[in-house]
Amino acid sequence: MNAAATMPAPGETLEDHPFLRACRREPVPYTPVWLMRQAGRYLPEYRRVRERYSFLDLCRDSDAAAQVTVDTVRRLGVDAAIIFADILLPLIPMGLPLRYEKGDGPQISQPLRTLQDVEALHPVSVDESLGFVAQTVRLVRRELEGETPVIGFAGAPFTVASYAIEGGGSRNYIATKSMMHRDPAAWHRLMDAVCSTTAAYLNMQVRAGAHALQLFDSWAGVLSPADYREFVLPYSKRVIDAIQPRVPVIHFGTMTGSLLPLMRDAGGDVIGLDWRVDLDEAWNRLGQGVGVQGNLDPVMLFAGEANVRAGVRDVLTRAGGRAGHIFNLGHGVLPETPVENVLALIDEVHEFSRR
Ligand code: CP3
Repeated sequence: MNAAATMPAPGETLEDHPFLRACRREPVPYTPVWLMRQAGRYLPEYRRVRERYSFLDLCRDSDAAAQVTVDTVRRLGVDAAIIFADILLPLIPMGLPLRYEKGDGPQISQPLRTLQDVEALHPVSVDESLGFVAQTVRLVRRELEGETPVIGFAGAPFTVASYAIEGGGSRNYIATKSMMHRDPAAWHRLMDAVCSTTAAYLNMQVRAGAHALQLFDSWAGVLSPADYREFVLPYSKRVIDAIQPRVPVIHFGTMTGSLLPLMRDAGGDVIGLDWRVDLDEAWNRLGQGVGVQGNLDPVMLFAGEANVRAGVRDVLTRAGGRAGHIFNLGHGVLPETPVENVLALIDEVHEFSRR
């Protein structure tokens, strides 16, 4: 499957692209597919670019970042282009310098632990401090005009706040949950600040031309439903409600089996599912008022082409041709993934769903 096959027929606008039709739960000629972390270290082309740039420098160089997105879309023949950036970039102008260390993921040297720390955060002008992301959106949009829709993104307030508090990834989120319960004033103040910056950051991407947005609440699944409802849902909802002009929103998380109805209540036109739930059962629980995205286990891409294709057919069969399914993995493509299996996945989604 090449990129040309994903282009809308002449006379159609990009609004009729299968990806955007699926976001609106309209019928599609084939199931659209894109992959979280589709531009990443599993691609030799990306590794070559990274020899010349640190990760942050690459994000800040809009021309180079746009090129990474566009080259990836053309190489894979996927139905959506996600901007090359990161969910943690807005923390930098808020006053939290970040390092991306090989192997350990992102590291924040002075994580937030007290109300005083939170009060010291800076208000952010996204146009001034994160304008390079808007410029990347404009360049990708121009390059892929009439061809492939562009997805802007941000981290959801909980996931971003958890990095700010823990200082990096975490196993048990002890500092984050402790702040929630021991110092709710600090928690709410932090979520309020992250919320404002995130809404402005997403709206900047919409103004720059993003056709759709994904909100990544990657680690929301560590929360009890009661904590999600009280400490997180109102803020995710506030961000989603603040988006304007309205574009479709994909609301994604992992380990969210028990939180799915609450995530739906927070908002989003499409709910992103990880592989720990059966897509059909999860969609039935969510109801027909939303679309779903997902949800093949990214590790299946290591199990050989025949298993990849069988896994794709299983997910598509569970979706059952219902309008509103966007194919994706249940989480991002892993760094050691064989490229040929990624190509087989995309081909199988297109071929099987056309039948
Ligand atoms: O192809 C794409 O999806 C494009 C862009 C993208 C990146 N990060 C680039 C990136 C997106 C959408 C993200 C989102 C992101 N970033 C999330 C949510 C998605 C998820 O995985 O749940 C999270 C939690 C982050 C925070 C983050 N950034 C982590 C944990 C890491 C380290 C991961 C790793 O594999 O080392 C990053 C760095 C990062 N962001 C890389 C890329 C391509 C790897 C940087 C590199 O070494 O080149």
